[in-house]
Amino acid sequence: MSNLSIQEQQLLDTPTERFKANEKRLINCAKVDVNQLMPIKYNWAWEHYQNGCANHWMPTEVAMTKDIEIWKSGKLSEDERRVIMRNLGFFSTAESLVGNNLVLAIFKHVTNAECRQYLLRQAFEEAVHTHTFLYVVDSLGLNESEVFNMYHEVPSIARKDEFEMRLTAEVLDENFTTETFEGRKQFLRNLIGYYIIMEGIFFYTGFVMILSFHRRNLMTGIGEQFQYILRDETTHLNFGIDLINGIKSENPDVWTPEFQQEILDLVRESVELEIEYSTDCLPRGVLGLNGELFRDYVQHIADRRLERIGLPTQYGSSNPFPWMSETMDLAKEKNFFETRVTEYQTGGTLSWD
Ligand SMILES: [Fe+2]
Ligand SMILES: [Fe+2]
Repeated sequence: MSNLSIQEQQLLDTPTERFKANEKRLINCAKVDVNQLMPIKYNWAWEHYQNGCANHWMPTEVAMTKDIEIWKSGKLSEDERRVIMRNLGFFSTAESLVGNNLVLAIFKHVTNAECRQYLLRQAFEEAVHTHTFLYVVDSLGLNESEVFNMYHEVPSIARKDEFEMRLTAEVLDENFTTETFEGRKQFLRNLIGYYIIMEGIFFYTGFVMILSFHRRNLMTGIGEQFQYILRDETTHLNFGIDLINGIKSENPDVWTPEFQQEILDLVRESVELEIEYSTDCLPRGVLGLNGELFRDYVQHIADRRLERIGLPTQYGSSNPFPWMSETMDLAKEKNFFETRVTEYQTGGTLSWD
């Protein structure tokens, strides 16, 4: 009689022929099981995973004392407070929407171990980002229900989130599969909706607004947290672009002119939603920021995103905030984390008492 458990016997009973790395596929991979990370085929996925791990941070490492002082001092105008509140409201639930979409809609259908390794890392980072908003709300003593309900109660935020949630719902439908032509298109629509539109367009006006305060030495704690988030999101966007382009090249039949036009229409719709959001945040303009500048900015970044997935640019607007590129370059520098106060404990130094 065998001493093996049923599971052990099943593992031994499965075909033992070893896979070749080139048999790996991003979706619908029948040949290679998702538990086999090595040999790696998609080196970009592993690089993004390592970049993510090199950026580890926690919101509680950032001191909020100066922010609390400014927030309570009455130094900020009503319009300035509105900009901060709207962005806290948008991000506090958007981070969670991204996390849920990753875990519930994307993860299951990406049939490749190195991409899944990255998705697990990204999911944790989204949890850290949501944690950031809890920490900010707590530190500033804000009304938590007000902040976390804006995605139902503030129309300009609700419209962006409804746009995204529609794309999640399609993939969560019980009949959804990536094995059909329609299913593969639907999955790409979800990936583009989240990586290109949510993380690549919807997040960026918020980054500009909050980092503008930081540049004026106001709300620098939130500003520093947004720099960390921006750095993580840059990697999320880059991974998403590689994944989308990878699926396109493995499934060239779905990238039809009609489907490309449909994606362009989705992006154009999102650009209008984002312009509406920025106008709602800045009804009168503050800090040298106003709705008109954001129209140019949103169109400018939408063009940059379209280029990265091989689609024609639509607007030709110039970037009214060139300092954002400097901020992003700065965020890429290795010494970015020199101001950190916490040293992470490694396994060998953890105490279990
Ligand atoms: Fe995030
Ligand atoms: Fe993200």
